[in-house]
Amino acid sequence: MLLIILLTFISTCQSTTVNHHYLRLPLLHVNPQQSPSEAVSADTARLSTLHRRQHPNLPVTSGAYAGAGQYFVTLHLGTPPQPLLLIADTGSDLVWVACSACRNDCAATRPRHSAFLARHSSSYRLHHCYDPECGLVPHPRPKRACNKTRVHSPCRYEYSYADGSVTNGFFAKEKTSFNSSNGGLELLQHDSLAFGCGFEVSGPSVSGPSFNGAQGVMGLGRGPISLVTQLGSHFGNKFSYCLKDYTISPPPTSYLLIGAGAKKSRMRYTPLQANPLSSTFYYIGVQNVYVDNVKLRISPTVWNIDKKGNGGTIIDSGTTLTFLPDPAYRHVVAAFRRRVKLPTPEGAPPNFDLCYNVSGVSRLSLPRLSFKLVGNSLFSPPVGNYFIDTAEDVKCLALQPVTSPGGLSVIGNLMQQGFLFEFDIGKSQLGFSRTGCS
Ligand SMILES: *[C@@H]1O[C@H](CO)[C@@H](O)[C@H](O)[C@H]1NC(C)=O
Ligand SMILES: *[C@@H]1O[C@H](CO)[C@@H](O)[C@H](O)[C@H]1NC(C)=O
Ligand SMILES: *[C@@H]1O[C@H](CO)[C@@H](O)[C@H](O)[C@H]1NC(C)=O
Repeated sequence: MLLIILLTFISTCQSTTVNHHYLRLPLLHVNPQQSPSEAVSADTARLSTLHRRQHPNLPVTSGAYAGAGQYFVTLHLGTPPQPLLLIADTGSDLVWVACSACRNDCAATRPRHSAFLARHSSSYRLHHCYDPECGLVPHPRPKRACNKTRVHSPCRYEYSYADGSVTNGFFAKEKTSFNSSNGGLELLQHDSLAFGCGFEVSGPSVSGPSFNGAQGVMGLGRGPISLVTQLGSHFGNKFSYCLKDYTISPPPTSYLLIGAGAKKSRMRYTPLQANPLSSTFYYIGVQNVYVDNVKLRISPTVWNIDKKGNGGTIIDSGTTLTFLPDPAYRHVVAAFRRRVKLPTPEGAPPNFDLCYNVSGVSRLSLPRLSFKLVGNSLFSPPVGNYFIDTAEDVKCLALQPVTSPGGLSVIGNLMQQGFLFEFDIGKSQLGFSRTGCS
């Protein structure tokens, strides 16, 4: 039996009633390598930075290597629904999919589900360039004049990411369907999800190996056009996820939950910080960094958001590595160097400053890195979240410095593995729990 519930979203009249349903979308980690336990060879998988380019100074991974990349989630768009695999990204707002204008015989020219076939959906609609929604997306330059009376004047968007990747196309709306919480017996529908129908896509994050078969990006940021903001009021303005540890085999199933449903077991909280100049990112406040419970002498000001809106630390599921302000990074590397006396491997990857040859080490014990966050909560990830295998018997510290002045620090997806994170936008706080994933 299929019970259909229509969640008609009216953006001008936000409903404050909280629906008891929530959405549970399986999160997949597609590893470009065959086996997760296998050591990663140098030039195959490029680490990815997907967060939105909003400031001039954002860190970009310059060809760092590892097997971890992105987390994927399936979105069903259109009538009848077409399943599309998207990257789950808390560092950007726009939901977009690769689109095709193909009408007939589409299977002959492209693999099934490799793009959204707009002409095969009866509910596909374009936003007119004069629609207020069109003001919510960045436009390609030079911006065309909008003729209010011309019927076919679609809203064009151009959206760029921190590593220079770009998608552009038409800002459209579609019906989207979700299986609800338990067992998928109920089908929830949202009548008009605003999304980017991407006809041009370029750049390493959206076409390189880390994109690995995805057809687009599910923006889960804080801004008005993100999936969570568009669905938010129906689901209590919160979402949570648990990024599974990609080294566990077989990998445990994990979910992106939109709405309530996260277990509160031993949850710690830190307030989400506001940056008036950036509506997209989830900023958190770092107070101190510890290595083996020893507080490093890092000036607290290196973590601040300045008056121009630069700096600060975000939590981002679309960036793989963690980026720390340069002074903090140098203190962390020095602290590890003092504590770990292991040989440096030959031919270590050039993108990491600290690598060890762990060949013949029977019980490897590496120092514990922890972050004291605002609200007095301690984020203490397991060693595997910041030391990665780059080759057989070679372990490297998977951190990068933010070297550009006023650059943004990022807690990447590798660092988040094995924790339940709850983004409570209504209460403006981030909860996390080491035991909440089970
Ligand atoms: C706008 O479109 C209408 C209808 O297509 C046309 O008659 C009019 O000349 C256009 N105006 C401009 C300024 O291009
Ligand atoms: C709902 O779940 C069923 C069974 O797992 C699956 O086949 C279907 O594609 C799902 N539909 C949506 C809209 O997620
Ligand atoms: C690691 O050390 C072992 C034993 O000393 C050596 O045989 C091996 O070549 C080293 N590996 C690298 C990558 O340096």
